[in-house]
Order: sequence, then C-alpha cells, then structure tokens
Amino acid sequence: MKTALPFLETDTPARRVRVWFDGAPLDLPEGMNLAAALLAAGVRVFRHTPVSGAPRGPFCMMGACFDCLVEIEGVTRQACMLEVTEELRIGLPQAGEGGHDEG
Ligand code: FES
Repeated sequence: MKTALPFLETDTPARRVRVWFDGAPLDLPEGMNLAAALLAAGVRVFRHTPVSGAPRGPFCMMGACFDCLVEIEGVTRQACMLEVTEELRIGLPQAGEGGHDEG
C-alpha cells in the first residue's frame, strides 16, 4: 500500500541539485529548507539517540528539538536551519553527538 508523503512541494518549480544522504544520491530543490526537502524525498531517520539507538527525525522545524541533526563536512548541524545547496554530503551523526539524550 502506497501512502502519500505528508509534505507537498510548492507550485513554483525550483532547480534540483544533487546531494548525498548517507551515501545515496538525492535530487532536491535548491534553496529549500534541508529538513523539509529530505522529508519530502522520503528520508525519515536523521539520527539515532545515543542511549537506546531510537530513530529520530525532524519534529519542531524551528531549531528547538535537535531531532533533525545531520553531519555535514564533519560538523553536526540542525537540518531545519539549513538550505539545500549543490553537492551537500549529508551523513548520520555518530552515536553520542549532539541532541538531547532522551533515550
Ligand atoms: S527539527 Fe527541531 S531542531 Fe530541527
């Protein structure tokens, strides 16, 4: 059964640029909020909690929850605070990096 994505793209077409998430290529709209673009592309797990390894994905979309943490060029950052730019190489943060330790 196919389920519809909860995020729809706007009517204004944006140039798509190639980024890499956990080694897989994705073509995302340039300039779009990175967390929203990844969610729209079907990415659901952005990191795992350091204690239990539970999966986490964006929740607040305003920089408060830290559940959207990703690693870009060796730096752990909040995806909801970034825009899509060409050739971003996005990885899952290493266990124990950043975020709230909520198990
Ligand atoms: S989604 Fe909450 S900090 Fe990014």
